[in-house]
Amino acid sequence: MNTKVVIVDENNIDKDAINEAGLILREGGLVAFPTETVYGLGANALSGDAVKKIFTAKGRPQDNPLIVHIADFNIESLVKNIPEVALHLMRKFWPGPLTIILEKSDLIPGETSANLPSVGIRMPSNIIARELIKASGVPIAAPSANISGRPSPTEASRCVEDLQGKVDYILGGGSCTVGLESTIIDCTVNPPCVLRPGGITLAMLKEVESSIYMDPAIMKKPEADIKPKAPGMKYRHYAPKAPMKIIQGDLKKTIAKINEIVQNYIDENKKVGILATDESKDSYPNGLVISLGSRKFMESIGKNLFEALREFDDAAVDIILSEAFEEEELGTAIMNRLKKSAGFNIVEV
Ligand code: TXA
Ligand code: MG
Repeated sequence: MNTKVVIVDENNIDKDAINEAGLILREGGLVAFPTETVYGLGANALSGDAVKKIFTAKGRPQDNPLIVHIADFNIESLVKNIPEVALHLMRKFWPGPLTIILEKSDLIPGETSANLPSVGIRMPSNIIARELIKASGVPIAAPSANISGRPSPTEASRCVEDLQGKVDYILGGGSCTVGLESTIIDCTVNPPCVLRPGGITLAMLKEVESSIYMDPAIMKKPEADIKPKAPGMKYRHYAPKAPMKIIQGDLKKTIAKINEIVQNYIDENKKVGILATDESKDSYPNGLVISLGSRKFMESIGKNLFEALREFDDAAVDIILSEAFEEEELGTAIMNRLKKSAGFNIVEV
């Protein structure tokens, strides 16, 4: 397949490109596009045939439902029963990185919802995404625009790397500002339950409804006795090519432990990647060190995480060693992705 790649400027949007990509979506094709979280791979959410192509292009398991992206608040035709709390959440956090799961209407085909009776809906804040959805005239089903299992793309070039030749169009924009996939909240249950942590934190959600809680399975290894409610959370995810280890504990001890492990690998002529922070990066004399930014700005850690994992892939490291973060506020989402990337390979110090 011939993939057309067009990069547009968020501040001066090329309407022709948006209309061209929108038409492809309306006619059943695949378009990768930027959102504020990660790049998405879109298809017409109302067409089972169009949506099937997403699963093929990504190599995605069929039982993993897709999120439906919209550009205005009129979602009545897509869902049944919108509880009051969902309306409050939409008003407060849309457009933005929050996916709300509601009972689906018959308009949503089984291919989109993986035959679940519910559907996740999200209104992205990225202007290119919203203009594209409007231009298509249909709601857009979109998972992250990576080959299944790989780190989500937060740069247009990474979509090209994964999807060139597999999709009709890559509509590129800038770097994703959040860098982590949306928070998912299930509003088909009462109280609503967070199924995936993201840029909208539990504390922010609790301001709207204090009974909102997080599924206890989220931060645990999938084999543990509790089953995750978001089907996608059970798969190995966000994974760089090299195996990864998280070193968790006091920062000083972490640095000492990482340096010790690095030395062992270097003795075996192995190339080591170190996922560090501005506070620690100068403490690692050996290995390829990438800083995610300062621990004082967790937003930058989240924004840079997936791109750093892909840079380690580019450098063909044999192993990645990562520092850990406090599992609070945005740190919860960051640690969720890190743990999954590492296959829950954690060393306590
Ligand atoms: O930020 C995002 O949400 C990005 C951008 C592109 O918008 N999209 C994204 O999609 O992360 P994806 O397909 O990579 O992740 C969707 C997650 C999966 O874990 C899936 O199982 C869950 O959402 N999900 C979707 N619909 C669901 C439903 N009805 N019930 C439970 N979980 C659902
Ligand atoms: Mg994904």
